[in-house]
Amino acid sequence: MAVLVAVLVAAGAVLRVLQARGPEAVALPGQLQKAAEKRLVGTAVDDTALRNEPGYRRNLAEQFSSVTPENVMKWAVLEPVRGKRDWAAADRLVDFAAEHDQAVRGHTLVWFSQNPPWVEALEGDELLQVVREHIRTTMERYAGRIRTWDVVNEPLEDDGTRRPSVFQRELGDGWVEDAFRTARVADGEAKLYLNEIGAEAPGPKSDALYALVRELLGRGVPIDGVGFQAHLNRRGVPDGFRANLERFAALGVDVAITEADVALKLPADAAALRVQARVYRGAVKDCLAIPRCRSITFWGFTDRHSWIPATQPGRGAATLLDAELRPKPAYRAVLKALRGRG
Ligand code: G3I
Repeated sequence: MAVLVAVLVAAGAVLRVLQARGPEAVALPGQLQKAAEKRLVGTAVDDTALRNEPGYRRNLAEQFSSVTPENVMKWAVLEPVRGKRDWAAADRLVDFAAEHDQAVRGHTLVWFSQNPPWVEALEGDELLQVVREHIRTTMERYAGRIRTWDVVNEPLEDDGTRRPSVFQRELGDGWVEDAFRTARVADGEAKLYLNEIGAEAPGPKSDALYALVRELLGRGVPIDGVGFQAHLNRRGVPDGFRANLERFAALGVDVAITEADVALKLPADAAALRVQARVYRGAVKDCLAIPRCRSITFWGFTDRHSWIPATQPGRGAATLLDAELRPKPAYRAVLKALRGRG
């Protein structure tokens, strides 16, 4: 009897370990990165999954030509205590990318969110110096390994005014310009992006972003690209997205889709998954139609690890693979679109 109990306990332990490791990779109908040819196809990376789940790592390595840290290069993670920097998780991703010949999108240097409390408490010139040092230290560490940075993230409100943040409050409008100039000096080779959420369609936010980029470029501020996040839902790609990408590209900057996902109401039925596939396909095709649209990054690639259910209760199923890493209709639609057959 005691032996039987011991065996059952041991079997339970093994099962728990296997569950924590997640599903193993499943047969893949194709590789996204191979289909894309000249564009980079990327994904945000969840550090816990990267550490613990072999199946996740395998898909990450095989499918994508670019990776973006979902959280681990945000300031609160890199320097939770002033002067005590922790690069461990960020290094882990950069090393993984090097091992698999992938580009890295550095995300993100100056953002209103996920700052350590000590930064939020700074004032005036002290804040300015600290922001500059943060940009320099981070970019210099990864120079040559991270060639694209989201230098400034989400500076605008939906109505096109500046979003309140410690930077806006303490430094005024000039913080955006200062961040880009500092970044150029820190790493003259890196592509410097302004990344914005909800600016896909022409409208108050996108128009203000356009005016801002045009004005900054006019004054010689080094902006190389504008990122459109594309957090979408079943309503689809906003009308005018392609034309919007085009007008920004016409300013002489690169553009990119940087955080695409398509959130659905849960549980998502087959019809909803088909709608989702159409939305993804539309976004991919819009990027492919613009020669200066350099990359398409998804905000996660499996429903097992996505920010949506945690922040939008009742919604999810937003990515290309299901929680068991099986391709969804969206995956096949993206693959076809990337191959020019969608
Ligand atoms: O790591 C801590 C953990 O130690 C703690 O126990 C737990 C308790 O809440 O929180 C964990 O941190 C969470 C972190 O994700 C890592 O899981 C934060 O609370 C949570 O706020 C954070 O959410 C991230 C969010 O940015 C923060 O605003 C999402 O994962 C991430 O997907 C999301 O990404 C942003 C982009 O950077 C910018 N564009 C919008 C996009 C979606 O919001």
